[in-house]
Amino acid sequence: MYTIEQTKNLQSLTTSALSNAEGIGIEALRNILRFHEYRYYILNDPLISDFEYDSLYKQLEKIEKEAPQLITTDSPTQRVGSSLNNAFTTVQHLVPMLSLENSYNAEDLLDWDRKAKELSGLDVVEYCVEPKFDGASISLIYENDLLSRAATRGDGVEGEEITNNTKQIRSVPLSAKFSEFGIDQIEIRGEVLINKNNFKKYNDQLAEQNLPPLANPRNAASGSLRMKDPKDVGRRNLEAFLYHVSYSTTGNEHRTTEKQQPTTHYGMLEMLWQLGFRSPVKEMKVVKGIEGIIQYVQDFEAKRDDLPYEIDGMVIKVNDLALQDKLGMTTHHPRWAIAYKFKARQATSKLLKVEFQVGRTGSITPVAKIEPVPIGGVTVSSISLFNEDVVREKDLRIGDTVLVERAGDVIPYIVKPLAELRTGDEEEIIFPKKCPVCNDELYKPEDEAVWRCININCEAQVVERIIHFVSKDAMDIKSFGEANVRKFYELGLLKDIPGIYQLDFESISQLEGFGKKSIDNLKQAIENSKSQPLHRLIFALGIRYVGETTAKTLAHAVSNLNDLATFTEEQLLQLDDVGKKVAGSILLFFKNEDNIKMLEKLQGLNISLNNDKKQVSLSDAFGGKSFLFTGTLTQFKRSDAESLVEANGGNIVSGVSSKLNYLVVGADAGSKLEKAKKIPSISVINEEDFLKMLPK
Ligand code: IVH
Repeated sequence: MYTIEQTKNLQSLTTSALSNAEGIGIEALRNILRFHEYRYYILNDPLISDFEYDSLYKQLEKIEKEAPQLITTDSPTQRVGSSLNNAFTTVQHLVPMLSLENSYNAEDLLDWDRKAKELSGLDVVEYCVEPKFDGASISLIYENDLLSRAATRGDGVEGEEITNNTKQIRSVPLSAKFSEFGIDQIEIRGEVLINKNNFKKYNDQLAEQNLPPLANPRNAASGSLRMKDPKDVGRRNLEAFLYHVSYSTTGNEHRTTEKQQPTTHYGMLEMLWQLGFRSPVKEMKVVKGIEGIIQYVQDFEAKRDDLPYEIDGMVIKVNDLALQDKLGMTTHHPRWAIAYKFKARQATSKLLKVEFQVGRTGSITPVAKIEPVPIGGVTVSSISLFNEDVVREKDLRIGDTVLVERAGDVIPYIVKPLAELRTGDEEEIIFPKKCPVCNDELYKPEDEAVWRCININCEAQVVERIIHFVSKDAMDIKSFGEANVRKFYELGLLKDIPGIYQLDFESISQLEGFGKKSIDNLKQAIENSKSQPLHRLIFALGIRYVGETTAKTLAHAVSNLNDLATFTEEQLLQLDDVGKKVAGSILLFFKNEDNIKMLEKLQGLNISLNNDKKQVSLSDAFGGKSFLFTGTLTQFKRSDAESLVEANGGNIVSGVSSKLNYLVVGADAGSKLEKAKKIPSISVINEEDFLKMLPK
């Protein structure tokens, strides 16, 4: 897309623009921004920091605000669009979006090749092979070099118009110089995806808010395309791969243009790549004869899990476009292409029963027990159903045959029941009104999807709290672990958190598997935990909404844990990172007599409640300023960077709010960055900027 010469030029223009954006001219400024978007979203190789990009972007916004008549539809500022609700109208595709015939093994491919040779009269056919992206398919139309319409596949003949939402996908260019190839109108097909990393981040955020996760990246992508507010689409960090030109016209057949329209499929995808689209040129291969294709698809399947996005197979296409025309299509699919499907990560099984598990904070989670079934190398027998709404939406019943999916590193989930296989003997899933462990009445807060047991002494919660207390990120009592907590609890050797420090080792030594060595290790680990830093103890207490970062903030604010019990709501709200919900939960924790008694007991057992401020203080360079690190950091470990901030008088916060002073951004930053961009008081900086801020 950009030659080395152009890259150098644009990079030096960037430097001048950064020192004087107004002097550079509006179209030049746009071209600089487009160039950096391309480096970031297509090549994955940015040349400037997000902070620098943002400052240029803001300059362009400012110029366009002062002179709105200069705004063009393909200006980088025009992706944002209005936040008016989308109304998706039905539109007709220029060419029906057919689906592909499937193949599952080498024989299928050999058969298909035989037919292609017969129909073409050739001895050897040249093919292209490329990934089969597992997302949501889209069609894009460009007219006179501008993106004029984007649509979903729909039924293949008609789809829904989603132009505004598609503009939020940064790897889809708003304009592209098709005119250089003599093309006036073109329809391109592709797949919208959310990569595995962004999918996981998004689900982690949902989990923090107690919301059920999105089932898989494919559903996440297709759901995202149909969201009402384009800004929400932007937050999902979607990507698009373009893999097929279905239609193109030249307004004037006799016009001579710089470049010729390609005559092969590979040439088309290369043209798209040159024009700034993400087409799979790097992942694809041109091969003469089917044998090489068979080898390539098998090799690719072995690498499937290493890719940053999901693919469910490969697509093999006849390379020569004239030959594609000659082979034509059946009513359902083209004869010039075939999908090779990888081994299924779906299987059917029987839903045997649903159990209800009680979590540490009393949340009741329905868990499906299914007949064990192997999927992609793992045997699945237990699947979380998250909450009642999920069960109702899927209309699951005990005895149903269910379709189960386990994609890559995504946890297994039930796609749907196969209702057509019902015999009539299936039974409704009844949600308990009482806690399955302590029998207390369950309760569902209005704004939540989960039922809760609010009996703080419920045995299930007690055990989960002890498991959390000893866990690695909390008090880190090595060699204790979940299994031992459960065993000791069942045998009556452990009743509560202080009990960890009063274990009867005489009795434990009688148990199978507890020799002298393992008992000594356990004793030592318990002893060591008594002097863990205060923030670990606060986190270990399992106060709802108090994660590791908030625990650090709280520890920082006091010299002894008992001080925290005296804080008022107002005082808590003063702290970075503490909002009303968190403050309310902390107050509730200290209002509970049992909790106060537990802290007294811990103190009596020599567990340090003091903030020993073991941290070295290097300087006060950050003088109370708050920092947050996001994305993948390459120059230092996140925990080291956080310690540096604290050692230089700054604080770490866990969320983006107006209380945040600096957001330090690494690679692939997601929603935190988007949110921070909207709060003018936050300085968004990269790792280098951060290093420069540190005192020498
Ligand atoms: S070609 C006329 N190439 O798979 C043929 N499709 O089951 C146009 N897909 O609906 C499709 N990756 O959504 C093609 N590299 C690829 C693809 C691909 C994913 C999807 C597409 C299509 C479905 C076919």
